Amino acid sequence: MSSSIDIKSASGTYQAHVGRGILDEYLKKEIASLNPNNLFVLIDENVRKHHSQHLEPLFDKLSERVHLLSVPEGESSKSLAFWSEILDFLLQNHLQRSDAVVVIGGGVTGDVGAFAAASALRGVPLIHIPTTLLAMVDSSIGGKTGINHEMGKNLIGAFYQPKSVIADTRFLDTLPEMEWSNGLSEVLKYGAIRDRVIFDECERFLDGNRNKIPAKTLISLITRCIRVKADVVAEDEFEGGIRAFLNYGHTFAHALERACDYGKISHGEAVWLGMIAAQHLSKLRGYEAEGDFIRKFRPLYHFRVSAEELSSDELNRHMKSDKKRDGDHIRFILLKKWQHPVIETVMDEDQVNEAWQMVFRQISPSTKQ
Ligand code: GLY
Repeated sequence: MSSSIDIKSASGTYQAHVGRGILDEYLKKEIASLNPNNLFVLIDENVRKHHSQHLEPLFDKLSERVHLLSVPEGESSKSLAFWSEILDFLLQNHLQRSDAVVVIGGGVTGDVGAFAAASALRGVPLIHIPTTLLAMVDSSIGGKTGINHEMGKNLIGAFYQPKSVIADTRFLDTLPEMEWSNGLSEVLKYGAIRDRVIFDECERFLDGNRNKIPAKTLISLITRCIRVKADVVAEDEFEGGIRAFLNYGHTFAHALERACDYGKISHGEAVWLGMIAAQHLSKLRGYEAEGDFIRKFRPLYHFRVSAEELSSDELNRHMKSDKKRDGDHIRFILLKKWQHPVIETVMDEDQVNEAWQMVFRQISPSTKQ
């Protein structure tokens, strides 16, 4: 069982393919149609470790000239220094416009690799092979590429659409525990802003053993998420309006990540807490956002930061310096009701502080689960 979803963009329509064991077939087709002289592969070091026995012979079959570069794990690869290293690798191996760059990994590899593909020779054909749940449902879809700057995350980058995305769920067999919750948060986000069936399909995650989730359940869930994202991106590719809905929970999340120096909290953990805060703020603003659709997944998150280490004053300061602020005030994605998001500037700091209190309650030991 597999699915293919059209993703419409200003530079043309491409497809995201989702299935188990589909990589060889779709990559072969894609490479045959691009017919590159050189194949450049940027691959997450852990994915390479786990899957090289399968991947390296596959690349050798696809092209006589394959150049491989490992991308070290972690956010530090999303840096100017590593982006420049990728450009050295591409240019020193005589990259041409007719070549192809294949990016294999999670959000970090995808973002920095795709930005290098967007900027080398002003853009060369790119294929995304996301290997984490988060990358399959979110970061490989919709053309955002980029790296971090000391002033903040994702401050340098470009919108650059790939030729195709191939999401083979076999890669999820080796996904570390924390990466599952990172992905789950983005999946739940789509449930919150657009498609409530996603909440029902996610119940499988509460059963415990992720490896027992049937392939068809995962494929259906990933497909649903990509459809939501594709619809949003087709309407607002460059984030002038509704694409911001995809940042539900992220305003709070980015502040939490900064307060924890991007170490003691993962992006997914921060997004889950951010969605709880955004739901609470929605209720404080008088909207109908009752229900534990997100909260019921609390047992799947293992927070390492305690409420005592955080303060709403510091978190508010971080939110005010986020790139999505509106002057001095903060713009939030709220829910008028479930699946009905709205962008709203909130002036009332007491309400924001109350939303932070809700976050602190989730991570304090006395929280009932
Ligand atoms: N991850 C949000 C977006 O692609 O717009």
